[in-house]
Amino acid sequence: MSKANGRKAIFITGAASGMGLETARLFHEKGWFVGGVDVNEAGLDALRTELGAENCLISRLDVTDREAYRATLAAFAQATDGKLDLMFNNAGIGRGGPYEDMPWEDAMAVININLVAVLSGIHLAIPLLKATPGSLCFSTSSSSAIFGMAGIAVYSATKHAVKGFTEALSVELKPFGVRVADTLPGMIDTPILPDEAKANAPTEGMWRLTPPREVAEAVWAAYHTDKIHWYVPTELEAFDLVVTQHPEMVRDQMAASGMFNRSQP
Ligand code: NAI
Repeated sequence: MSKANGRKAIFITGAASGMGLETARLFHEKGWFVGGVDVNEAGLDALRTELGAENCLISRLDVTDREAYRATLAAFAQATDGKLDLMFNNAGIGRGGPYEDMPWEDAMAVININLVAVLSGIHLAIPLLKATPGSLCFSTSSSSAIFGMAGIAVYSATKHAVKGFTEALSVELKPFGVRVADTLPGMIDTPILPDEAKANAPTEGMWRLTPPREVAEAVWAAYHTDKIHWYVPTELEAFDLVVTQHPEMVRDQMAASGMFNRSQP
């Protein structure tokens, strides 16, 4: 008998904190077997204790290490009899600052973790997804993929790429019954956001500080429907329509807001 013992199985990257952690909790509550990886070992230990070792397979994985990723997925597949009902590509980092001042190493780290590792993990997991009826490949994009976000330009570029990749793959994998979708979260109350951004967040509207549980609920809803893009909060979807029709207006409003002004000599 495999460890998952017939339960549905989710694999989550970035499971030790924020949205990944809340998603692990929600799917555990629903009776799923949880595979969770992260580089935060203390967070992983706490998660394993919380869920119970018999209900999960939790291990340290730097998602940029392709061979370690391959081995981790093989161990997960052994625990689930080769099934992967939901792959949640969620690990990410948020380094930014004005682009011209950004250390090149930071830009490459953002690209490698937020984009290349997502492509790598999915590439490795496609056989498992195809072997699992009704499976979903779900990734964390961002509201910064609606309109390019000044101050986090490289981050924003990676999230646009994840969104586009999701759309392309949703077509490629449809004949195999594998669904591909993503979430575009706004300002979610997790450690990735600087304290200053949280303190200045509005209390209502699409940029309000939103609990990570709402993203977990979107992941759950995504598994049970066939929608591609999940905006959290949902008001962001209307913003996406405005951007499509009036990108110059959005650019000018953002520039006029003063939020991205720089004290330039
Ligand atoms: P978080 O910082 O709480 O969680 C991210 C997790 O990813 C951390 O536990 C971190 O250790 C892990 N991680 C980072 N690099 C890794 C690596 N190389 N290998 C394995 N794990 C790694 O932040 P949050 O908000 O839960 O982030 C989840 C995703 O949501 C990220 O992709 C982020 O870009 C995205 N996002 C966050 C928003 C927010 O407002 N919090 C808004 C839109 C998107």
